[in-house]
Amino acid sequence: MKPITLAGAVVSASAGVAAVAVPTSDYEHRIPTSYESAVLGRRILALTPLGTISTVFPQDTHANDDDASRAENRPAGLGGMPYGLMEYIADCEDDDLGNPTILAITVGTTFKNIVAGSNVSLSVQWTPPHPPAKRIKNKTRRGWLSYLGLSTPHHADADADADSGPDASHHDPTPYSAANLPRFALLGHLAPIPGGDDRQDAVGARVASCYLKSHPDARYWLPGSRVHESHFMRLVVEQVYWVGGFGDRAFIGWIPVEEWYVQTVSRKEWEDVRLPGEKKGWKEWSASEDL
Ligand SMILES: *[C@@H]1O[C@H](CO)[C@@H](O)[C@H](O)[C@H]1NC(C)=O
Ligand SMILES: *[C@@H]1O[C@H](CO)[C@@H](O)[C@H](O)[C@H]1NC(C)=O
Repeated sequence: MKPITLAGAVVSASAGVAAVAVPTSDYEHRIPTSYESAVLGRRILALTPLGTISTVFPQDTHANDDDASRAENRPAGLGGMPYGLMEYIADCEDDDLGNPTILAITVGTTFKNIVAGSNVSLSVQWTPPHPPAKRIKNKTRRGWLSYLGLSTPHHADADADADSGPDASHHDPTPYSAANLPRFALLGHLAPIPGGDDRQDAVGARVASCYLKSHPDARYWLPGSRVHESHFMRLVVEQVYWVGGFGDRAFIGWIPVEEWYVQTVSRKEWEDVRLPGEKKGWKEWSASEDL
């Protein structure tokens, strides 16, 4: 096993990420650029139907002082408190800007906070559809961490030679190393999609049809339904924070927002890249060039 460079560990640590660098197999990986990471992120956005939207309660929130608070029996003193919950997301605008499409349900707390002026953070993680054929294993023999002086006698080792696959990971709720997979936060605000709520409108018809491909159950609460008042909105991305995986092989940091947008990332580009675990038989230690 080849000793690893310290650079990756330093990058991880400075980004406040728990995971440290892990060994390369027989060659050093090239860390992708922020732009290459943006392409991967755009693909993750296109393929992932769920995310967590965080908002902040308005400062003037008081218990039960309006219909909305009464309806949810909201406690007092929540002003400034962050609140994050799973929401449906989609990638439905044909401007190809990478602004996620959100169906805002007026009665939802997330959207009440937005109406009260909150900015939003949408966090999305990549979940591989297939478990890896070779896993990062915990072994008790002298591990790679000892090269960094970080190991304890039984610290997790990172050899990729062992068995694994679906049987070995049968009882494992995350049958892959989630710390080594990409995730990101899109920071910005919600804005209406002009024409988006009108299915007689070309924009509205296309957005609804695209959204239903990701979320067929949402047909019951599309704009104009009797179940809930709802509106199609776009999350206007202002900043992008990216953690691509372990810092010795992945980019960790802010992606310049102009790299996220269409001026640089085209549909063709994100359609052409592949993410870890999209194909069967992948190895957790693989770098993006091996996928
Ligand atoms: C939303 O974020 C912007 C910075 O992008 C900031 O200027 C504005 O004050 C924020 N709004 C609220 C309500 O915090
Ligand atoms: C690795 O496995 C050993 C023995 O199975 C165990 O004692 C140790 O706590 C494990 N280390 C980690 C980091 O999980």
